[in-house]
Amino acid sequence: MSAKIIDGVAISQEILAEIREEVDQLRKAHDIVPGLVTILVGDNPASLSYVTRKIRTANELGFHEVQENCPPDISEADLLALVEKYNRDPAIHGILVQLPLPDHIDDNKVLYAIDPDKDVDGFHPVNVGRLMIGGDAVRFLPCTPAGIQELIVRTGIELSGAEVVVVGRSNIVGKPIANMLLQKNARANATVTVVHTRTRDLAAHCKRADILIVAAGVAGLVKPEWIKPGSCVIDVGVNRVGEKISAKTGKTIAILRGDVDFDAAKEIAGSITPVPGGVGPMTITMLMKNTLASCKARV
Ligand code: GUN
Repeated sequence: MSAKIIDGVAISQEILAEIREEVDQLRKAHDIVPGLVTILVGDNPASLSYVTRKIRTANELGFHEVQENCPPDISEADLLALVEKYNRDPAIHGILVQLPLPDHIDDNKVLYAIDPDKDVDGFHPVNVGRLMIGGDAVRFLPCTPAGIQELIVRTGIELSGAEVVVVGRSNIVGKPIANMLLQKNARANATVTVVHTRTRDLAAHCKRADILIVAAGVAGLVKPEWIKPGSCVIDVGVNRVGEKISAKTGKTIAILRGDVDFDAAKEIAGSITPVPGGVGPMTITMLMKNTLASCKARV
């Protein structure tokens, strides 16, 4: 039997509608709307495309939205001063500095300069620490892991006691999602294993997983025979494997593949995210949710 396809676009739309409603209520009750600043340095096409989507979504939700497009040769000191300007701006509740930054700028120095209470990406060490502690300490969950958790919960997959295997140990996905799903709360309580490039028998670990989360960045890394029948497969990989001409626009577009062989895996798994259209749309949605939460905390 073919797996249930976890539709990240539809679930995103559902959450965005909830956010829109809360924004309307905030505006009516307190005359305030969430404020987000996006800071983009240079003109990297992928970064520009991500930031454009974030700005569009923020506008559609009725956020106060500010764009800072900086030249590629902006000095580190000037960028730090810009971050500080928005740390002090009471109309801004979320600061997003799009990564990667040019080589002459220290990414961490800039990320660590963001007020942790406006760090809607959840990358500041204070928020990483809060996530590790769990419970009431948590302020902002990093957006991609938060999106993954939301997909699992909203699909009705049981997390409590589940064997979760995370493939990949990045700071942005692998480590935080592992941490989140082992917390003691109703949206977690899983038994979590993290595997990586030095793991001795990747296949054996994956085969045990009730929920397999793959964030390795290697197209087709997970083979269909590694998937436990009936399990939930979350594919975070977005790998460009070629180009094609779009039938809709006539423009050249990237052909994207996940870290899992989707066509074969969907015949074995119980539920699975597609690439594109699975985890991807959730990341921006969770950024909006964090910005809303930051605004609500000020009210
Ligand atoms: N570049 C790629 N993904 C992200 C993200 O989630 N946040 C930021 N700030 N930059 C990115």
